[in-house]
Amino acid sequence: MNKTHIPLLILLSVFVALVACGQKPAKTPAPVSDYREPHRPQFHFSPPAQWMNDPNGMVFYEGEYHLFYQYYPDANVWGPMHWAHAVSTDLVHWEHLPIALFPDSLGYIFSGSAVIDWKNTSGFGKNGQPPMVAIFTYHNMDREKANGKDVETQAIAYSNDLGRTWTKYSKNPVINNPEKDRDFRDPKVIWDEGSRQWVMVLAVGDHAEFWGSPNLKDWSFLSDFGQQFGSHGGVWECPDLFPINVEGSAESKWVLLMNINPGHPNGGSGTQYFVGGFDGKTFKLEESFAKTVPKGTGQWFDYGKDNYAGVTWSDVPKSDGRRLLIGWMSNWEYALKVPTVAWRSANTLPRSLHLHKTPGGYRLHTQPVAELSQLRSKTVPLPGVDITGAFDLDSKTGFSFSTAELELEFDLDKSTAARWGIELRNSKGETYRIGFEKAQNRFFSDRTRAGNAAFSETFADKIHYAPRMVTDKTVRLHLFFDHASAEMFADDGAVSMTEIFFPTEPFTSARIFGEGGNVRLSSGKVSQLKRIWK
Ligand code: FRU
Repeated sequence: MNKTHIPLLILLSVFVALVACGQKPAKTPAPVSDYREPHRPQFHFSPPAQWMNDPNGMVFYEGEYHLFYQYYPDANVWGPMHWAHAVSTDLVHWEHLPIALFPDSLGYIFSGSAVIDWKNTSGFGKNGQPPMVAIFTYHNMDREKANGKDVETQAIAYSNDLGRTWTKYSKNPVINNPEKDRDFRDPKVIWDEGSRQWVMVLAVGDHAEFWGSPNLKDWSFLSDFGQQFGSHGGVWECPDLFPINVEGSAESKWVLLMNINPGHPNGGSGTQYFVGGFDGKTFKLEESFAKTVPKGTGQWFDYGKDNYAGVTWSDVPKSDGRRLLIGWMSNWEYALKVPTVAWRSANTLPRSLHLHKTPGGYRLHTQPVAELSQLRSKTVPLPGVDITGAFDLDSKTGFSFSTAELELEFDLDKSTAARWGIELRNSKGETYRIGFEKAQNRFFSDRTRAGNAAFSETFADKIHYAPRMVTDKTVRLHLFFDHASAEMFADDGAVSMTEIFFPTEPFTSARIFGEGGNVRLSSGKVSQLKRIWK
């Protein structure tokens, strides 16, 4: 036998052995990328190749933040869903691991969550170590084709080796479809200390359902919420439920996140939230909050068009105490058509969530995680300055603004400009603008002249807006630009806007501009950011 055949034979027998015991061979997303293709984000997570949508199963364990995600390894468009996998020790740098969950005869592996089963309630633990348990939706294409209502069921899988390999539970599904609702998916599970049980929140068409379990295997229906409240412009998806402290007080509330597609105020997919209480059985809206979300009206987590399906990390240690979220930085309106080839989609920056009691009621704010500051390679302070026309940032810093962070403070009383903000520009004259409109008291993001938009009629047809939520005389803007995206945290995170764009050449230049008057920059800081990929 020819020697060169031996490795092939070994591979073949490993494959046959794995298939025989019902496992597919571990497969890392391929082909390998240098992460330098046009539009490739340099400090945001994106898959090495092919299609990605929702982040899934975020859980912290033994020093690692796990990030699974909806993944189709065979094309750059949506297809049979897998859970791909990456880990990070700092929420900034990511290591790609082999695909964790493959579709099987029960269906595609749709979105869901993961928990550490500290008390080994499931019995999946080994050698005294708690198992990592993933809870996900099976989406069955045969049932879909047969027009059945029982397309989606909930299932579990476990890992005893830090999430590296997974075994699906032999008695899946753990929740059968009651055959009432075709949309019955995206389980997010938490351990509720108050009722001493696992609580699952599911997205079921136009409402949320809560289910309880002692062991992650046996589930019973608890209650539902939402038909009478919030935005109903589309189907509800990817929920999350968690308790959170009210900033600056000893009070704690429960937040229910509910993604919705379509229905976002600027079009397409978006994330709404509800604030209330959860007693182990039912979720009840805070009275003052209920008034702000009558049926048809949502409170929005992010006003940009490109932050969807975000849910939070499980098991972040109490000593850390943060509630951390990451979203998918795209929108179903055009996600399948965005002009990248080797891969499609990136995630938002990881953010921490903060609940504030404001004169208008409870509001969820969001901030970029502090770990991102390690990306600054150089920081240049900006002087206080009155700007009429434009203030050039290239000559002040020598930076390339395709990857940059800006922290700017503007004095509203001393600014007369009707419109002001930051403009990114390339040598082709394409521009992206983000800023504030005085008379309307609102933020805007303008990608209408930001390059390639021909792939979708609704990508760049209009300017996107966000209301201002506070009345301070100083407007603080914290911005991140990364080749194909802008993220703005305004007024310390009271409003955020996340948007993508596709300039035909990178936006290397930046300036602060004011239209119809002056804008007073009271202080600022600009940082050049490093890439995260080797
Ligand atoms: C949200 C979503 C989920 C579903 C998944 C399928 O973007 O539609 O509801 O589980 O994507 O990939």
